[in-house]
Amino acid sequence: MKILVLGDSGLLGQAAVAWGAFHGTHDVLGISPSAYTGSPYWGELRGKYEHSALSVPDQWDAYRWLADQFKPDIVLNAAALADLKDCEENLLKAKVLNAELPGLLAADCRERGAGFIHVSTDQVFDGKKALSYTEEDPTNPQHVYGKTKRDGEQAVLDAKSGALVIRTNIVGFRGRLSKPTFAEWICESLAASKPMTLFTDYYVSSVYVGDFVKNAFALAEKKTAGLWHVASHDFVSKYEFGAVLAKELGFGLSQVQRGCLRDLNLKPPRPAFLALSSVRAEQTLGRNFFNIGETLRALARDFKLRQGEKNYASH
Ligand SMILES: NC(=O)c1ccc[n+]([C@@H]2O[C@H](COP(=O)([O-])OP(=O)(O)OC[C@H]3O[C@@H](n4cnc5c(N)ncnc54)[C@H](OP(=O)(O)O)[C@@H]3O)[C@@H](O)[C@H]2O)c1
Repeated sequence: MKILVLGDSGLLGQAAVAWGAFHGTHDVLGISPSAYTGSPYWGELRGKYEHSALSVPDQWDAYRWLADQFKPDIVLNAAALADLKDCEENLLKAKVLNAELPGLLAADCRERGAGFIHVSTDQVFDGKKALSYTEEDPTNPQHVYGKTKRDGEQAVLDAKSGALVIRTNIVGFRGRLSKPTFAEWICESLAASKPMTLFTDYYVSSVYVGDFVKNAFALAEKKTAGLWHVASHDFVSKYEFGAVLAKELGFGLSQVQRGCLRDLNLKPPRPAFLALSSVRAEQTLGRNFFNIGETLRALARDFKLRQGEKNYASH
């Protein structure tokens, strides 16, 4: 199978490229604006797939030309402006990348007969529900990131391309010192004995990015379409997440302090309960997705691997 990963230098993109390159006999083409050199953690990927430095939609003709040459069976869109603060400060970029680009890609995949997986987020919800959100629940995004991601979902569904739109909450390592992921921030803080405050009232169903990728491609192979949730089998507060991760890594809890999201009164407001129910996808694939414990063990394993290769990419 030929897989095109848009946003291959990101958290999800790196995991998708790794899955494509190491599982089965997939040909992988990765695209993102930065010249991808990869962190040492992903160093073994070098030479296993092709990367092209392109920015879309501004280099749309070049993207189409590349896709014509590569002839993907499936395109995974992992490109986004995925940081809440960046989205508030760069409205136009958030609109183009999160809301408009997904529809363009879906229409392009429909034209070329390729499958399309578009990735969305739990942040399309308002966090006011007491039970995990299902695919049937109405969206009510509270900030620019959530609103533009919700519009991107709709643009893909409107393109009637038979695409998969998958909401998730992923955790893992990206290898960019300048912009650590949540997991990187916790692990690095623990390792450096830096105190950190984690919320006891903010619940998510974060899943290990490698498990997400495996399940997303499995849904695509089953020719499923439309809106799906693929996240952790269960959910947990950010505080519990950090506390158990500290334990998995063999650190004490003295650095991990309890905080409350509701005390911060953040603008824009952050929804506090964003657990996703993945029941429909789990039943369709006939297996449970990683639970929080499995996700934390996978993160601890990755971190220990990275500790052996300490010179992360600094770009
Ligand atoms: N991380 C999470 O916690 C989380 C949770 C839920 C959902 N998601 C969703 O998962 C997806 C991937 O998120 P992520 O965390 O992997 O994001 P990320 O690490 O920030 O990666 C974003 C990727 O998009 C690329 N990109 C940015 N502008 C581009 C452009 N104009 N053209 C092509 N590529 C461009 C980036 O390339 P450069 O490096 O060159 O800029 C990078 O490869 C997003 O749709 C996000 O909404 C993420």
